[in-house]
Amino acid sequence: MTQYLVTGVAGFIGRSIAAALLARGESVRGVDSFITGKRANLAGLEAMDFIVGDLTDPAVCERASAGVEIVFHEAALASVPRSVADPVNTNRNCVDATLNLLVAARAAGVRRVIYAGSSSVYGDTPTLPKHEEMSPNPVSPYAVAKLAGEHYMRSFTRVYGLETVTLRYFNVFGPYQDPTSHYSGVLAIFCRKMLAGEQPTIFGDGEQSRDFTYIENVVQGNLLAAAAPADKVSGRVMNTATGSAITLNQTFEMLSGLTGYRGKPAYAEPRQGDIRNSLADIRLAGELLGYAPEVDFREGLRRTVEWYRQGA
Ligand code: UD1
Repeated sequence: MTQYLVTGVAGFIGRSIAAALLARGESVRGVDSFITGKRANLAGLEAMDFIVGDLTDPAVCERASAGVEIVFHEAALASVPRSVADPVNTNRNCVDATLNLLVAARAAGVRRVIYAGSSSVYGDTPTLPKHEEMSPNPVSPYAVAKLAGEHYMRSFTRVYGLETVTLRYFNVFGPYQDPTSHYSGVLAIFCRKMLAGEQPTIFGDGEQSRDFTYIENVVQGNLLAAAAPADKVSGRVMNTATGSAITLNQTFEMLSGLTGYRGKPAYAEPRQGDIRNSLADIRLAGELLGYAPEVDFREGLRRTVEWYRQGA
């Protein structure tokens, strides 16, 4: 039986991958430090073997990797503004932790590591859509840290023969995403505020655009990356997104309809380290993994609003 490890399992992407694996009857271990992960996100994952620990501690990586065949590495401090405020901590939790995990995975005989990459590595280049052949051009410390992790993945494939796959996620959203921190993803914040009748704030003119990707598509990408033949995917980097983008202003309008919020958004200064437009070319993941998004933005947003409404 394949033993899977999910790092960052109390975060919303990690918990969603673990839930999908458990639903298939797989054997799953999860690890989380609860720096940003939430204990409540572990509800429904009781069948999982869970370790509380921080991947910046090599001993935790060792314990977590023992007996594992495939790792989904989702743990990170996932926020551009958090990295702008505290780049050292972002580096520690994204880069040091990733390197520790790779070292432990190799020592434990793990076969494959699938890494949560980020669209932020493309930075603010005018070329759209972003495709994997483009040179990365990270702006924020967060983007630099996520890119360093990618390079470590490829290095461990080239030097040690560990199978690695990087999936560059584009603005993932959906149920279980924490809406309570000002470092949270914009859709989580807007859903919470607008359902509560509070005015959301748009940083900038709202004409920035994102390829917002519903969580189920990301879970599907990960499961495909775990199953794909090594000669096709090992050492590769691919976008995981929808291939269409929407502006924040348009998103606000859609959310007004879904939440019943009647007000206007507030507008504030653009955020430091922000990029203007983001849109993915998803052909490579289609070719290598057979990936195609199953849930489009509108449907994903509808399900997400419903989830927050239930919780509210
Ligand atoms: C970036 C990455 C994404 C990564 C994420 C981790 C890009 C294109 N995307 O997302 O892949 O997973 O970091 O956090 O680099 N905003 C508001 N009001 C708010 C909150 C945010 O207007 O209350 C705006 C931001 O200024 C930004 C947009 O919404 O323009 C999206 O912000 P956010 O959800 O934080 O994600 P990114 O920084 O785009």
